[in-house]
Amino acid sequence: MCGIIGYTGSKKSVPILIEGLRTLEYRGYDSAGVTVAEGGCLSTVKSKGRLTDLEGKLKRNAELTGSCGIGHTRWATHGEPSDTNSHPHTTDNLALVHNGIIENYAEIEEMLRGAGYAFVSETDTERAAKLLDMLFVKSGDPLDAIRRATKVIRGSYAFGIIFKGYEDVIYAVRKDSPLIVAHNDEGGFIASDIPAILKHSTSYYRLDEGVIAKISKSSLEFCDLSLTPVEQKLETIDWNIEQAQKGGYPHFMIKEIHEEPEAIRKTLEPRIKDGLPHFGIDALDGDLLSSFDSIHIVACGTAMHAGLVGKAIIEKLARVPVNVEIASEFRYRDPILRKNDLVILLSQSGETADTLAALRHSKACGVYTLAIVNVIGSSVAREADSVLYTWAGPEIAVASTKAYSVQCALLYLLAIRMALANHKLDEANARHICDMMLQKIPSAVEKALTLSDKIYDVATMLVAAEHLFYIGRDIDYALSVEASLKLKEISYIHSEAYAAGELKHGTISLITDGIPVVALTTVSNVCEKTVSGIREVKSRGAYVVSVCAESLVGKYDIPCDEMLVIPDIDEILAPFPAATVMQLLAYHVSALKGLDVDKPRNLAKSVTVE
Ligand code: F6R
Repeated sequence: MCGIIGYTGSKKSVPILIEGLRTLEYRGYDSAGVTVAEGGCLSTVKSKGRLTDLEGKLKRNAELTGSCGIGHTRWATHGEPSDTNSHPHTTDNLALVHNGIIENYAEIEEMLRGAGYAFVSETDTERAAKLLDMLFVKSGDPLDAIRRATKVIRGSYAFGIIFKGYEDVIYAVRKDSPLIVAHNDEGGFIASDIPAILKHSTSYYRLDEGVIAKISKSSLEFCDLSLTPVEQKLETIDWNIEQAQKGGYPHFMIKEIHEEPEAIRKTLEPRIKDGLPHFGIDALDGDLLSSFDSIHIVACGTAMHAGLVGKAIIEKLARVPVNVEIASEFRYRDPILRKNDLVILLSQSGETADTLAALRHSKACGVYTLAIVNVIGSSVAREADSVLYTWAGPEIAVASTKAYSVQCALLYLLAIRMALANHKLDEANARHICDMMLQKIPSAVEKALTLSDKIYDVATMLVAAEHLFYIGRDIDYALSVEASLKLKEISYIHSEAYAAGELKHGTISLITDGIPVVALTTVSNVCEKTVSGIREVKSRGAYVVSVCAESLVGKYDIPCDEMLVIPDIDEILAPFPAATVMQLLAYHVSALKGLDVDKPRNLAKSVTVE
């Protein structure tokens, strides 16, 4: 997803812009560029490819020494990755960077062509730049031009703009795409995400929708779209620089997997009071949770898979029906939402466009919405009726790991709270599960982390595979779906997750000599059945990796080539260490293949387009 940085101050801007863009690389990009204001000119250098390509071009150009500039990493949406399509987009009067999608760009283009404008790129952004140009030429006033442009543009945007004649000022405005602003003795900054400004500031403003920021070296002003001054809330960054960096690990992904015990502790502890789930810190009245007849969990990718675990545990404990939905399907299939339904939105970033759209659709249907989100102040968090934050800290690797674990942890707490409210669980049992969660999940996950060497050995047996299957039943099936996604997205091995009993209805025809099958068994009452499924694939030549709960190892004769034993923990909590083992397996396969673990091809961390 595109990354934005802007700086105005007394230092040379290019090194600050490049450094900022580097911290945003995790968002995924295919081209990059900068515009720097110098001597009354706006000088722009852009390049397809990585930041090193842009740096090479910058070195070959005359040095850009100006102290006000904007930079961008682009993830192509309209038009292929190319120098021309990359940002900033410039006119005779301004330079603009953009994150988001302008829906009515064709209409805008037609109107601008009528006014004599021509276009060089295929991007929606160039249309926005030229619209601003036309409005700026008319009024000579940047704020007025921005204000008028926002009335014309439909879609999502975070804009950073420098106007000719105002070369030490950066203007910013946003809608549906995040943008932050910081200001201190060093000068002013805009960025699409916190890591880009971490080195320079410990506080920031998350720009509200419909607010324009005017940032210069010595001042920062905000106004609304009628150009009336407004205040924005100053927030403190509680992530330090080390947190946002790799902390000695070779990849962010493995660092983030190692952060799971702490993230789970941080997420659970403040929400367990007198031994029971309590959401006072989130201002959520637990009794409200008893008023819903059914639940829809709506999310994308890994977050949706955490929803599958949530469904299993909520239905098991609270006996409330749960429907898990892919957010991109949800609103278009006109879901049946009733007055007493609850919609839970899960999202690490809180900016996923499909999840945000599903949230807005649910609200429009008058249904209560509860968000479980990692990024504080993100769009999903702000728009939902209630929000529970997962305190996992920044997740930089594209493949989500710790965010998944904490989403599952919060769904467990919700399940217990609902079960209490519905009288499906008595206080003593609820206390017991809460106590186990606090005492045992972090330590079991820590133990799972110590299996890394053994998991690495198993990974060496899988690196050459072209296809792979994960099987399990019940909650093990939910875990398999996520394990499979994790492997395929970072190792590029085609894999599928199957409910162990379903294989024989077709897919077993794909099982031939040596095809790896990873079989999960943590649920005792279906273990025997899963073992039958394992026998079926083993007898057809599959290379079986059993991932088995310690308590079940001796009880069943599991035919396998390798076994990973999940650290002992009460069965109901086994998904936590099991998920960690599966994440480690995917990680090691990808790292062994020498792939870009943290930035798999074609993927972006935060998917802010539909
Ligand atoms: C996969 C992954 C994605 C995200 C999905 C939703 O490892 O990270 O599948 O889970 O794009 O993102 P969020 O949780 O930010 O809404």
